Amino acid sequence: MEAAKLHNEIIKGYASSTPHEWERLTLSNGIMEYITTIHYLEKYLPKNGVVADIGSGPGRYSLWLAQHGYDVVSVDPIEKSIKSLKARFAARKLKKRLKGAYVGFAQSLEMLESKSFDAVVCLGGPMSHIMEEKQRKKAAAELFRIAKPMAPIFVSAMGRFTIFGGTVSTFQTDLDSRYIDKWAETGDYFGGYGFLPFHGFRPYELEGLFGNKVELLARTALEGFASYRGSYVKELMKNKRRWNKWLRIHFSTCEEPETIGVSEHYMIVAKAKK
Ligand SMILES: C[S@@+](CC[C@H](N)C(=O)[O-])C[C@H]1O[C@@H](n2cnc3c(N)ncnc32)[C@H](O)[C@@H]1O
Repeated sequence: MEAAKLHNEIIKGYASSTPHEWERLTLSNGIMEYITTIHYLEKYLPKNGVVADIGSGPGRYSLWLAQHGYDVVSVDPIEKSIKSLKARFAARKLKKRLKGAYVGFAQSLEMLESKSFDAVVCLGGPMSHIMEEKQRKKAAAELFRIAKPMAPIFVSAMGRFTIFGGTVSTFQTDLDSRYIDKWAETGDYFGGYGFLPFHGFRPYELEGLFGNKVELLARTALEGFASYRGSYVKELMKNKRRWNKWLRIHFSTCEEPETIGVSEHYMIVAKAKK
């Protein structure tokens, strides 16, 4: 499918899923992604400052940032998500923290000044929904441009290989379709089987989008071995002792390349060298 059509399909899909997008990080499949992302935000964010949340959706991370003392500028292509984000800030009396909320794309952040953010986050897969590599590099260049010198940039995206775990269990019929061949060859999924089109990244591919402009601080699996095991995660959470032990194991293995390789999402934290 041509790039413009894919792009429209992604935008149309997200425009009709704003309520789900707000919930997604609290649902069984999103819990590990959220916990791990927050862990790394807490570790690498500066103590205060202005953070750009690019591909914010309805604002789960934007709100977390505001609630933790940061000023926030949010950008997402979906007008409905931006409206809902603004309403959530207002409902929580955090409007003063929201320094801007724009409808826009990661590839063209011209409304944001160069070198103006103490940190930049692009979380949960906006980068995966940019189907052309040239455009993904453009988005990375924009994230880099708006970051202050040495500011951390957090980018998380969908991994490329985890889907095959599901292929041999729940989704065997996918082996009858052509999409799985294309996926195995390129990591590109063009839609039509229940998800929006996206690009799955190899473990070292994300930082490659930035060339040598950044220094890598961390690369981590977000779900790791809990990928596509959301219902088990919910069950495990009921037993506090086991859950805490699992989290210790997760956080001691999540930066291993093998774990990143099987993870549904992974994240890089990189410092803008300028
Ligand atoms: C899975 S949601 C993640 C939202 C939020 N960051 C989170 O983690 O919950 C992916 C988001 O990427 C946005 N998106 C899609 N294409 C984008 C692009 N080219 N630039 C910026 N955001 C984009 C979608 O509108 C959607 O809000």
